[in-house]
Amino acid sequence: MNYAILISGRGSNMQALIDARLPGSCAAVISNRPDAAGLAWASQRGVPTVVVDHKSFASRAAFDTALAAAIEQSGARLIFLAGFMRVLTEPFVQRYTGRLVNIHPSLLPAFPGLHTHEAALQTGVRVHGCTVHFVTPTLDCGPIIVQAVVPVLADDTAAVLAARVLVQEHIVYPHAARGLLEGRCRLEEGRVVWSGDATPATLAMRVPAGE
Ligand code: GRF
Repeated sequence: MNYAILISGRGSNMQALIDARLPGSCAAVISNRPDAAGLAWASQRGVPTVVVDHKSFASRAAFDTALAAAIEQSGARLIFLAGFMRVLTEPFVQRYTGRLVNIHPSLLPAFPGLHTHEAALQTGVRVHGCTVHFVTPTLDCGPIIVQAVVPVLADDTAAVLAARVLVQEHIVYPHAARGLLEGRCRLEEGRVVWSGDATPATLAMRVPAGE
């Protein structure tokens, strides 16, 4: 099954997905920003890149229509959002129900939205992490595919914590993507069910080495 990756910036999760040599092929990397650093990385590796610049459209609906056209043209069936910083309209999300996946840098349902690492430090949680989930019309709220947990340490800054979480993002996103592409996890009545090799729905906390 072919997939597309949607980015807005540096694209480190996109790189992790492409480097994982997933089954199927990456039909397109699509960015809403022409200056996204991840575009150059992808095209250097021969992955087709497309820019759908949100600034060229008068409304979110018009942008989403163009985005869907780019996805359809690529032939992708699964869509991975990887640092894609646009809120998608409900018709777009409905169109891709069960095929639209996001990574969010918190243990959802804690800390939806932006500035998750600052919020984790502010709140004083002892564990933090990231979540790969299906996208639903409510922001950062869809069925959870996999999560990874990291400790929050006493002297963490938001940047240090973000870096610790990002290491895990690069592990769990390819893990989830592989499960989806191989048909080992699926949506059942609004929840994600893994089959076959009893893949854990939550990866164990990895205490960072060398910190
Ligand atoms: C990641 O932390 C991701 O979880 C969030 O935005 C960031 C994107 O980073 N949605 P990158 O572009 O994948 O490096």
